Amino acid sequence: MQEIKEYVAKKKLTISHFILENKLKLKLVIVQVNDDPASNSYIKGKLKDLNEVGIEGELIKLPSETTQNELLSLVNKLNKDNSVTGFIVQMPLPNHIDENIIKENISITKDVDGFNLLSKINPATPNGIVTFLKDNQYDFTSKNALVIGRSNIVGKPMAKLLLSLNMNVTVVHSFTKKDDLSYYIKNADLIIVAVGKPNFLTNEFIFKKDAIVFDVGINRIDGHLVGDCEKNLKVSYQSPVPGGVGLLTRLSLLLNLLEVYRNGI
Ligand code: GUN
Repeated sequence: MQEIKEYVAKKKLTISHFILENKLKLKLVIVQVNDDPASNSYIKGKLKDLNEVGIEGELIKLPSETTQNELLSLVNKLNKDNSVTGFIVQMPLPNHIDENIIKENISITKDVDGFNLLSKINPATPNGIVTFLKDNQYDFTSKNALVIGRSNIVGKPMAKLLLSLNMNVTVVHSFTKKDDLSYYIKNADLIIVAVGKPNFLTNEFIFKKDAIVFDVGINRIDGHLVGDCEKNLKVSYQSPVPGGVGLLTRLSLLLNLLEVYRNGI
């Protein structure tokens, strides 16, 4: 497996050459309705990536008191705005706004997150992991995938995507018993862990020697970022945190924007 940092840097160079050669004028709008420190930091990273590859990025930051109807009006305006290639609404949203209603109203022609259920775009994190594996010639067919976590942003779309690649997919969650978890882990070729708990996966579990683990967790402990896995699991590959899945997710946003652009022409 390639180093994720190097892989992402190369892919970004290819994207920026492609945009330059084809003189593309692309614009991504990010809508934020919170002042969550984690969201602020993700958005900062996304805007930096856009700038690096030559895509215009605009952040529309709304106060937390914004009503659902006000946000829906903005979504509808962006759906119709020809100067906007695509847009995302940063999650989480304040509790008084129904995320599903917002997602359903993002036009599939602008839905860079792949949040609309009718969208053909794969959500950023699952898409980033699968693109990386494909580029590393990973053979998915008939292997056992274990997805730990069932969130709408990672777990569920991850499982769906791996199924479409002919893997045997198991999804476990906070109600799964530890003995069962051990059993599934022992038999897994590919493990995606997205539970948001430091040291959730440790060497107390028995892994297949050639197992591959992608750690989606981003937990802050005393100002440090750690994933959901203990370092140096006894597996053949474990993605680092930081510098792992987060970078693949950010790359995926750029790839998805290009796909939305291509679908629209
Ligand atoms: N919040 C955490 N991850 C994501 C993501 O991939 N897209 C959006 N819109 N919000 C997020």
